Amino acid sequence: MARFCITGGKRLCGQTQAGAAKNAALPILAACMLATQPVRVRLPDLSDVRNMLKILRLLGCGVSVQGDWADIDAQSACCWRMPADLSGKMRSSIFMLGPILARFGKAEFTYPGGCEIGLRPIDLHLSGLRALGVTVRETGGRILCAGSLHGARVHLDYPSVGATENLLMAAVLAQGETVIDNAAMEPEIEDLAAFLQMLGAKIQGAGTARVTIQGVETLGGGSYEPMPDRIVAGTLLAAAAITGGDVLVRDARAQDMAAVLSKFEQMGCTVEIGQGVRLIAPRRLQAFRTLDTRPYPGFPTDMQAQLLTLACVAEGAGAVTENVFENRFGYTAELSGMGADIQIHGRTAFVRGVAHLTGARVYARDLRAGAALTLAGLCARGETIVEGVSFIDRGYAALETTLAALGACIRRETD
Ligand code: UD1
Repeated sequence: MARFCITGGKRLCGQTQAGAAKNAALPILAACMLATQPVRVRLPDLSDVRNMLKILRLLGCGVSVQGDWADIDAQSACCWRMPADLSGKMRSSIFMLGPILARFGKAEFTYPGGCEIGLRPIDLHLSGLRALGVTVRETGGRILCAGSLHGARVHLDYPSVGATENLLMAAVLAQGETVIDNAAMEPEIEDLAAFLQMLGAKIQGAGTARVTIQGVETLGGGSYEPMPDRIVAGTLLAAAAITGGDVLVRDARAQDMAAVLSKFEQMGCTVEIGQGVRLIAPRRLQAFRTLDTRPYPGFPTDMQAQLLTLACVAEGAGAVTENVFENRFGYTAELSGMGADIQIHGRTAFVRGVAHLTGARVYARDLRAGAALTLAGLCARGETIVEGVSFIDRGYAALETTLAALGACIRRETD
């Protein structure tokens, strides 16, 4: 059990880095299963990444980690059954399904777990794989998939990030051509495709709504550095915004963050784009009128909690509508406990800015909620204790160290 103890009111200033993106690194690690030669990948130091490496080891891959880089040799992989305890712990274990099927023609797994932010079914993953020739059977809580993969046209009813990535990984070794329509367009999908192309895959259109894949016989190996984390970058800029600060995130890619940077500007921040992204906050933030989460290039659901937290102390009122996940406002009760004025009506949260928040003991129940409560603590009067830091560690590498280096008064306390 770990918690952050934060004394609010310090202005955050300076330069920092976001590091490699969790949401790019996790599918790339799953895709390592497809490689017939060794692969080197630069990885962020996150608990989700460590769990994914554990899964690869349990499936029989050779894995060694030196500093930021992991060497993965999937030639020795021999197991097509996903370890139940680890898949129960993390949603991203579902990424292994496509690669295991492509490799062994069969796969067995349990329903994936992860943050409690909605139902998060996997029907789109399974129906896409069925189109590629896979039969799916459920027995005693386990799901059994089998079949030799062939190319097909797949139309996703919703542009699911995970389903697009799973189908992409399954299709690269399938026989013939696969076309994924209404594919998710997130930059992490382009990054996964670039990794697969480095291994020898033939993919066109990744990052657009139609992805076309020509199956190949085998894939090789290579060395890859995933894209920088646009959500970590956005969170660090939000930390500058909420403390009246001035922070440059050196590796942030503005082109991936347009919707978020536009909201910062609507709130009165100055955003400078050059070598990275710099945010200079005004004395008092202004409320944005509305914020609607959408699939990329819309506003990312993973930044919803952080921007709503900024709205809590902005001048004026705004409405935040969550369209991607159905259960992503749980943390607002914690913000209300710190003095925020938030009313929830269905999928929309109405936020009226208050002059200040007051420090309190609050509980993070998912990753981005944890980041948001940390932001609240940075600007609150007095001390804030954020419990549930293990959720934050899933997606932010030593967040307290990064924030402290920018001037925050924050420390980790572990039982
Ligand atoms: C990924 C990201 C996550 C981000 C999300 C949306 C990773 C590791 N995680 O999650 O951080 O919040 O994209 O940008 O990359 N859905 C179905 N059936 C399915 C799959 C999804 O109904 O088979 C629904 C989900 O319940 C959700 C919506 O589609 O309501 C979006 O989910 P999806 O895009 O699949 O998100 P993830 O890949 O789980």
